[in-house]
Amino acid sequence: MEEKQKSGKLLEVKDLHVSFFTPAGEVKAVGGISYDLNYDEVMGIVGESGSGKSVEAYSIIGLLQSPGKVVGGSITLEGEDVLAKSKEEMIDLRGNKVAMIFQNPMTCLNPVYTIGNQLIEALKAHDKKVSKEEAAKRAMEMLELVGINNVEKRMKQYPHELSGGMRQRVMIAMGLICHPQLLIADEPTTALDVTIQAQILELMKDLQKKTHMGIIFITHNLGVVAEICDKVSVMYAGKMVEQG
Ligand SMILES: Nc1ncnc2c1ncn2[C@@H]1O[C@H](COP(=O)(O)OP(=O)(O)OP(=O)(O)O)[C@@H](O)[C@H]1O
Ligand SMILES: [Mg+2]
Repeated sequence: MEEKQKSGKLLEVKDLHVSFFTPAGEVKAVGGISYDLNYDEVMGIVGESGSGKSVEAYSIIGLLQSPGKVVGGSITLEGEDVLAKSKEEMIDLRGNKVAMIFQNPMTCLNPVYTIGNQLIEALKAHDKKVSKEEAAKRAMEMLELVGINNVEKRMKQYPHELSGGMRQRVMIAMGLICHPQLLIADEPTTALDVTIQAQILELMKDLQKKTHMGIIFITHNLGVVAEICDKVSVMYAGKMVEQG
């Protein structure tokens, strides 16, 4: 793929408000957050459980589930208004420009397709010219990079045949294989042992050098924040209370 030299502003979030409209009334999950993310930058988001970290991330990639709704503010990615995009355009965006690594791997792995199939399809959605053989080869390389052994066998397995930690690694591979411009990683390494965590962080940084992607890293692990983040935002009750 072409690796364009990119610099400057990648993502701009301005005064974002997200609410859930429940039978009991409106729950304000995100109450006006603003930040910029540049190419080549890693921003950490920390904050207690329920402070709105995941909801904010889902809003950016257009995967906010009903009854959740963006009720105010703007999200601009590479100069484009994300909130104005249609469902189809958002699917396209997720195949190409943005990838998310979820807290729960089953959110993004399809139980009825093999691991290999899903990785190959993810890659082909992004790079239409890639052959099936080349895609399979790159899928296996990516699985090895995230610390999965026996990759030929794993390619033929279904998500439920893997352990939780392995599923998480597969999801990380899925997120990285398309070389996204923006990667949102929501607690991606908590279920993994320390060696693999370090390996995956290394992998993300390596890939970042090549693709200049911006990364939003949601975590409880302050060691990780210190290790890889250029800046950190602290969320509390739907607001960013501290940036630096
Ligand atoms: N489906 C829903 N219906 C109603 N309210 C919701 C729903 N999903 C999330 N919320 C609200 O949004 C708030 C933020 O949730 P979110 O998942 O973003 O928290 P988080 O910061 O990611 O927490 P954690 O660290 O536990 O993952 C919650 O406190 C909750 O009140
Ligand atoms: Mg969360």
